[in-house]
Amino acid sequence: MLRLFIALDLPGGIRDRLVMLQAGVPGARWIKPENLHVTLRFIGEVDDPVAQDIDAALRRVAAPGFELMLDGVGHFGTERKPQVLWAGIARSEPLQFLRDKIDRALVAAGLKPDERKFRPHVSLARLKDAPADRVARWLGGNALFLAGPVAVQGFALYRSHLHNEGSIYEELAHYPLNGSGR
Ligand code: 2AM
Repeated sequence: MLRLFIALDLPGGIRDRLVMLQAGVPGARWIKPENLHVTLRFIGEVDDPVAQDIDAALRRVAAPGFELMLDGVGHFGTERKPQVLWAGIARSEPLQFLRDKIDRALVAAGLKPDERKFRPHVSLARLKDAPADRVARWLGGNALFLAGPVAVQGFALYRSHLHNEGSIYEELAHYPLNGSGR
């Protein structure tokens, strides 16, 4: 079985900016710079033939390249029990368009559509018992974070290898964006 997800990679300069946010919260497990990405779709465990169908479907996705801005920070989980810290992505029609096209391609490959609302972000940390006041201070202190533009010229299919020391992400295939976007 392969544990798969689809994501946008980030250029080195943007990673450096994100790494500068990764401080000041006790109990945070900060995500390694090489693992920072924007998830477009989490697929989960599939077997080999399904992975091949997914790859074939993704090869047919046609969409234009575009630019993104990173804007602000936020958290998943409740205020009392925050679980993930992230950097936000400014609202982007081309990103939503790409995500919808990918979703349709995966449905054509036999997967269920993703019913969850797409909330594009870059996860920066996973939290375990982080003090809520320190998280609130981190959120307030980084609220004006802004980075970019990031040129998005393709997306990739990743395999996630789960290890005790953290996940390792392996890029299985890269799909360039140069389509007309219809
Ligand atoms: P994230 O985008 O919030 O960081 C690989 O695990 C990637 O897929 C991670 O970036 C992760 O979250 C995202 N993802 C989305 N849904 C997931 C799920 N149910 N289980 C694991 N990872 C998930």
